[in-house]
Amino acid sequence: EKVVLAYSGGLDTSIIIPWLKENYDFEIIACCVNVGQEDDMTEVKKKAMLAGASKIYTEDVTDNFVDEFVFDALKANAVYEGKYLLGTAIARPIIAKTLVEVAHKEGAKYIAHGCTGKGNDQVRIETVIASIDPTIQIIAPWRIWDIKSREDAIQYAEERNIPLTVTREKIYSRDQNLLHISHEGGHVEDPKNQPNMKELLMMTKTLQEAKDEPEIVEIEFFKGKPIKVNGKEMSGKEILSTLNKIGGDHGVGVIDLLENRMVGMKSRGVYETPGGTILWYAHSELERLVLEKDVQHYKAQIANKYAELVYNGMWYSGLKMAFDGFIDKTQETVSGKVKVQLYKGNILSAGMESPYAIYNDEISSFGFSELFDHHDAEGFIKLVSLPFKIKAHCLGKEYLD
Ligand code: ARG
Ligand code: SIN
Repeated sequence: EKVVLAYSGGLDTSIIIPWLKENYDFEIIACCVNVGQEDDMTEVKKKAMLAGASKIYTEDVTDNFVDEFVFDALKANAVYEGKYLLGTAIARPIIAKTLVEVAHKEGAKYIAHGCTGKGNDQVRIETVIASIDPTIQIIAPWRIWDIKSREDAIQYAEERNIPLTVTREKIYSRDQNLLHISHEGGHVEDPKNQPNMKELLMMTKTLQEAKDEPEIVEIEFFKGKPIKVNGKEMSGKEILSTLNKIGGDHGVGVIDLLENRMVGMKSRGVYETPGGTILWYAHSELERLVLEKDVQHYKAQIANKYAELVYNGMWYSGLKMAFDGFIDKTQETVSGKVKVQLYKGNILSAGMESPYAIYNDEISSFGFSELFDHHDAEGFIKLVSLPFKIKAHCLGKEYLD
């Protein structure tokens, strides 16, 4: 029997290889899905083989990850609990999808992963696998064995000579892709502690080290998707890496979040999303210029629910996909250019334009008597106040006290 193991080269997945060998009779096909994490894939390959895998796939799906997954969430302006741009959650569906593809190629009926039993990732990975191929069986060692902490895991690895890059001091659990890096564990776990940004941050400069001069960057969107940065046409992947660099230099897009996990407990993490934060900001600004009020307001309500669905691993749920249909309709006119100014962790608007703007400064200020006569306001206000007049007549003014 073959098992496909979601493999990252990190501690959590490295120890699964010897464990699977010791406890099952599996041939282990490691699969490292590249979603833009900056790991050296030749190193990852070497590590997997040394640990005892018989084969390793390193599938690069970064372009797809950005164009299909990140940009869907961007069009929705999906933000979880008011802060989190969902960097880990958005990557899980494409990782799961790729694992299933490799399983089919190899004729494997099992997929193993290194998500812990306390987290969201196990739910996300498994629901997506179930949506694509319900016959695949899951092996989740972290819910089976009695290794309970990262310290235990390090010991288990050391006993079996598994090469590691973590040390007992730097014990953070990190997840990286082209959209973000998350940092959990260690001193971050205690909400009393101020996160040690100097030690944590990898894509983004700390506020102290951020550039001392402000910088303006222009992003052009076409139907809700970014297509150019500073006038230069680029692929989605290039756009995100360019903005990661620019935003990272200005310390933009770092959050410290005490969040509600799906499994019912709270957790605390630090997230860096420099390029994504610029894109989300610019995209929302452009929508202010081109969307009708009702569409804009209704879409904002959906954004919360959409974020919750993505956070909870419901990427292929009927509701999420129905929302995508609605959102795509709203994006038909979300085309134009947005300039933002970056400075010491801040983003400020620096002007925007669109052929679909439904704002006209002449109409909104004075003139244009054919379109808007100030006397129209009088009748309008009379009608708007009518129910209040009626209520006051019926109840007297005491009901307000
Ligand atoms: N708490 C975040 C989330 O649920 C980040 C999870 C990070 N995952 C990881 N395997 N380190 O999206
Ligand atoms: C894990 O526990 O596997 C990572 C954290 C999470 O899934 O929320």
